[in-house]
Amino acid sequence: MNKIKVFCPATIANISCGFDVLGLALEAIGDEMIVQKTKEPGIRISKITGQSLPLETANNVAGVAGLAFLEQSNYTGGFEIEIHKKIKAGSGIGSSAASAAGAVWAMNELLDKPFSPIELVKFAMQGEALASGVAHADNVAPAIYGGFTLVRSYEPLDIIKINTPPELFASVIHPQIEVKTSDSRKILKTSISLKDGIKQWGNVGGLVSGLFLEDYDLIGRSLVDHIIEPIRSMLIPGFGDVKSKTMKAGALGTGISGSGPSIFALSRGKETAEKVAEAMRNVYLNIGVDYDVYVSKINTKGMHKI
Ligand code: HSE
Repeated sequence: MNKIKVFCPATIANISCGFDVLGLALEAIGDEMIVQKTKEPGIRISKITGQSLPLETANNVAGVAGLAFLEQSNYTGGFEIEIHKKIKAGSGIGSSAASAAGAVWAMNELLDKPFSPIELVKFAMQGEALASGVAHADNVAPAIYGGFTLVRSYEPLDIIKINTPPELFASVIHPQIEVKTSDSRKILKTSISLKDGIKQWGNVGGLVSGLFLEDYDLIGRSLVDHIIEPIRSMLIPGFGDVKSKTMKAGALGTGISGSGPSIFALSRGKETAEKVAEAMRNVYLNIGVDYDVYVSKINTKGMHKI
């Protein structure tokens, strides 16, 4: 195989209580990438559609992740990459992760899988470092593994794939206001109180247990963030309103998707997820801010060939 076309899913990082450690992959939205082998060594980004992003390898998240891959590989040729962006940059649903993870996943397929998923996550994290200044794995891990993932540890990197309850649906709204991940990380406090820590890790354990037990009420009780949301929600006009209206519409829980400005909610069943999306839409219609809305199943496959 010399050429591959892949679907690179959008992802929701943090999932309320799991800052930098929890993430999930979406089915309804993602980029497409076409990657092919070349005789010339190195990575060339030949085309990007849908977004205005740098083509220079060293300034492109897919390029940087690809170079990290090549550095560890015995392969002497190179790759040419086409990126068709459907996920808007800066939306908070893993736009940079989709490109970084998509590039290395596709390259690995073309070379008959010399690297394991965790190694691919490590390469893709280099792209995240370029995009946000921090090599976080909570978007690239679910993009590569699919479903829900937990980064149990960064040093050494340890990733656990978590069960996806079959009736779980995500509703996501992207209000078109700009929030850069790097900026929304700068405003966070660098220490937390023991009291908040206790509440937060109780919820992380509760959410992971709820997902494995397929206990939707437990999932809902655990979708609470005592640490990051109170600070970051100030950057998202309408957040409080979206939260109360989506909960009223039947969501299990609502929170900030990654570093925002997108807001996500998880619901049991598609019908409820559609009602929740409608509630989200109404808030931004009233405020007068443009938006995109998605209702999606959880993507348990992650990256895949199309
Ligand atoms: N965990 C990261 C953050 C995700 O919240 O900054 C960024 O998409």
